[in-house]
Amino acid sequence: MQAVCYFVLIPMVYAALAVFIVGTAVQGARIIFGLKRSLGTAVGPEKRPKTLGAFCEALLPWKVWRDRPFHAGILTVFHVACLLLVLGHVELIGEVGIFQIIQHDVPPGRGWIGILLFAALAFFLLRRFHSPARDISEPEDYYILLLLLLAVLFGNQLHLARAWFDYSTVGVDEYREYLSGIFTFQPMLPEAFEDDYVGHSFLLVLHVFFANLLLMWFPFSNMLHALLAFPLARLARR
Ligand code: HEM
Repeated sequence: MQAVCYFVLIPMVYAALAVFIVGTAVQGARIIFGLKRSLGTAVGPEKRPKTLGAFCEALLPWKVWRDRPFHAGILTVFHVACLLLVLGHVELIGEVGIFQIIQHDVPPGRGWIGILLFAALAFFLLRRFHSPARDISEPEDYYILLLLLLAVLFGNQLHLARAWFDYSTVGVDEYREYLSGIFTFQPMLPEAFEDDYVGHSFLLVLHVFFANLLLMWFPFSNMLHALLAFPLARLARR
């Protein structure tokens, strides 16, 4: 059991980060070169400002706001929560002074970011059991949403145990020891993790296991739309 947990928390994290970084870079390069080629041959009226307009369109999908305001609201909450989640994970690696311009706990949100993410993901999944979303959904869409839901559920449980139920054996200091070891290539597991792999430490292993699968799958999945939104909006402006 200890060996499995060690494998998930260290070698598998390195593998996941390597696939995520190299895969996203390769896919990103393919998208940008494809965009350049398409822009060269694109026809139709120019829409100005080209790049800034495309950027705003990718970030603020006003057509969705106009046609489906409720859905657009959930999308906005989801993307803002994702941004705060990434900042929160960066702060779990080490102190980042600039992030504390607005004083906050690490990770921020007292568990509410995880709860909002879970609710938004549940909405994205459940709507795919009904038309019209069901008609355009592929099995991959359900698997990705389920994997995201599991990673978020266990991550959030870790945070709620500390923020709402005063659990303290494993806290931000231990996470920073673990995560900074990963990023400085001196991987180690804090003693608190290894005491016994039940309860909180096991939740962490489950969280990181599903997160690793997500990071490995990201470059080859339609989550890559995150990288496509801007090029497609830019192409439409010719
Ligand atoms: C796609 C990848 C990931 C997703 C979606 C994700 C999601 C989350 C969520 C939702 C939370 C709880 C935040 C809250 O409730 O406010 C969380 C906390 C956490 N995650 Fe992740 N995570 C990911 C990757 C990782 C990875 C790769 C690691 C470590 C190698 C990690 C370690 C942690 C830790 C240590 C916490 C803190 C728990 C606490 O506050 O006690 N996460 N994550």
